Amino acid sequence: MNRLVIGLAAAAVLPAAYAQQSVEVLHWWTSGGEAAALNVLKGNLEKQGVKWNDMPVAGGGGEAAMTALRARVTAGNPPTAVQMLGFDITDWGKQGVVADLNSVAAKEGWDKTVPAALQKFSKYNGKWIAAPVNVHSTNWVWANKEVLAKAGVTTMPASWDEYIAALDKVQKSGAVALAHGGQPWQDATLFDGVVMSTGGIDFYRKALIDLDAKALGSDTMLKVFQRMSQLRKYVDKDFSGRDWNVASGMVISGKAGFQMMGDWAKGEFLNAKKVPGKDFMCFRTPGTQGMVSFNSDQFVMFKVKADAAAAQAKLAAAIMDPGFQSAFNVVKGSVPARTDVPDTAFDDCGKKGMKDLAEANAKNTLVGSMAHGHAVPASLKNAFYDVITRHFNGQIDDKKAVAEMVSASKS
Ligand code: BGC
Repeated sequence: MNRLVIGLAAAAVLPAAYAQQSVEVLHWWTSGGEAAALNVLKGNLEKQGVKWNDMPVAGGGGEAAMTALRARVTAGNPPTAVQMLGFDITDWGKQGVVADLNSVAAKEGWDKTVPAALQKFSKYNGKWIAAPVNVHSTNWVWANKEVLAKAGVTTMPASWDEYIAALDKVQKSGAVALAHGGQPWQDATLFDGVVMSTGGIDFYRKALIDLDAKALGSDTMLKVFQRMSQLRKYVDKDFSGRDWNVASGMVISGKAGFQMMGDWAKGEFLNAKKVPGKDFMCFRTPGTQGMVSFNSDQFVMFKVKADAAAAQAKLAAAIMDPGFQSAFNVVKGSVPARTDVPDTAFDDCGKKGMKDLAEANAKNTLVGSMAHGHAVPASLKNAFYDVITRHFNGQIDDKKAVAEMVSASKS
């Protein structure tokens, strides 16, 4: 065989051997905007010759995904990487089934660039076990500009009373005032913002992070539930069980005026080719300006066989690449999980998100989102969900909900 033939034969074999590198990724990014963002990561890996085996498990907030994960780990066959939030990450760290990413982290300087608030969850026993891909925050409101203009709402509400007045106007105009999906995690997402708006950041911390019984049982908490009852009046009759992205779609299409949702909602607006400031507005839940309740999607790497470790390390490095963090988060609606990524590629909502996060971090007004697993572990979160949802559905009144929050905190 001459050299050219040998060269061609090798070239024909190489890509096949290379293509054997693969990762299996479990996630719950199944909406249009989420899938578009995920494609940025898939494309990045595929360019490096790593095949992407997708394991999507629908359901915002990730509860169904966590159930699927438990089954895979129990069967002794975990995926390479799993999208995860907050306390779930450290809970898996305790199980001894996750990989050690310290060498990739050291090589790529993660310690210096990832904010401490995130590192608290990405590390277990001093070891990096997860790569954070973004920082989302839950205290946002999304609004359709045209619907608001028709209803006579010309400035974005900054206080609770202004917000209620605006919701009233939109409802009177014939549109749905508040697009919402009645699912426990969505009800809890509203609750995050209402707690901050009603009691301020110290109250949020005391009640939902420190689980202070006095705060949980206080008149302020009663006011929180009264406000949740107020919001309930602006939701349409078909809200029960609706997916969050369908609710975003109602605002996008002009059927509804407002949605209170984390900034993944922006991904839906962008995916529908809507422009911030022109077609839609983003603003902080009225009364929470200067505060940020965050959640960060991290990819927890599970222990894999030696032959799969190289692809896993590539995935971890790709997630933390500054250029990727910019490209991904521009599409996802979130902001980078690294502090050294410029805001130049981001739209106005993204730029505001980055600025708000940096300021809240500096002023100590940055808190983990209860609704998205960054305030308390899953068992407590679920106990709170239960109270909030039963209250939102009228099964218990405001007073009873306060008493039940106190007992839920002890569960
Ligand atoms: C995740 C987001 C996701 C949203 C809805 C949140 O818990 O952090 O990335 O877009 O759920 O699925």
